[in-house]
Amino acid sequence: MATKREHPVGPFPPGVETDDEQVEYDKTRRRVLWAMPSGLYLVGSRGSSPERMNLMTLNWASQVSFEPKLVGVGVEKSAFTHELILEGASFSLNILDRDARAVVRKFVKPASVDLAASTLNGFEFTTGVTGCPLLAQAVAHVDCRLWEALDCGGHTWFVGEVADVGFRKPEDTPVLRMEDTRMSYGG
Ligand SMILES: Cc1cc2nc3c(=O)[nH]c(=O)nc-3n(C[C@H](O)[C@H](O)[C@H](O)COP(=O)(O)O)c2cc1C
Repeated sequence: MATKREHPVGPFPPGVETDDEQVEYDKTRRRVLWAMPSGLYLVGSRGSSPERMNLMTLNWASQVSFEPKLVGVGVEKSAFTHELILEGASFSLNILDRDARAVVRKFVKPASVDLAASTLNGFEFTTGVTGCPLLAQAVAHVDCRLWEALDCGGHTWFVGEVADVGFRKPEDTPVLRMEDTRMSYGG
């Protein structure tokens, strides 16, 4: 999912002055940023009542510290997930297997919750120590308590302390990366 903007966002380096130059530079900058390798995950979040939970496709994620064990995710302020992470002060990161390309396409808007069946958009989940949904078919999960929320303009970089982890499939299962899809996000 490429983010399209009407006017290129500055700053621009020396020599990029005219509108045309700025548009060209913007295209190159976008392609360079898309070239940054990344994984592809489902982020789980929950609010203060059981039916307020979600899973969302996300590729802006990274471990950010050894000690304490911190993991960060970049979430759009307009996303339902953003609201839930603040409300539940937690998030989960679900690492998917390489065959799960079809799954990430299903989690690009708020998911429909079936508490009786324990499913989100028909996909089974469990909950762990933070109460965030953990996708049953994930290779592994990282369950986090919110540590810090950094305002980054259109997104918030949420840092979470790792509260629990687990493998749900064999450790050598190949995991999904952005390059396994034809999708892009960012730039
Ligand atoms: C391949 C792909 C990667 C995405 N990566 C991110 C991301 O890193 N951060 C983000 O906020 N949204 C990302 N999105 C968009 C979200 O999945 C979603 O469409 C939007 O934020 C709404 O989520 P919501 O269900 O919480 O409202 C990505 C979408 C796709 C298709």
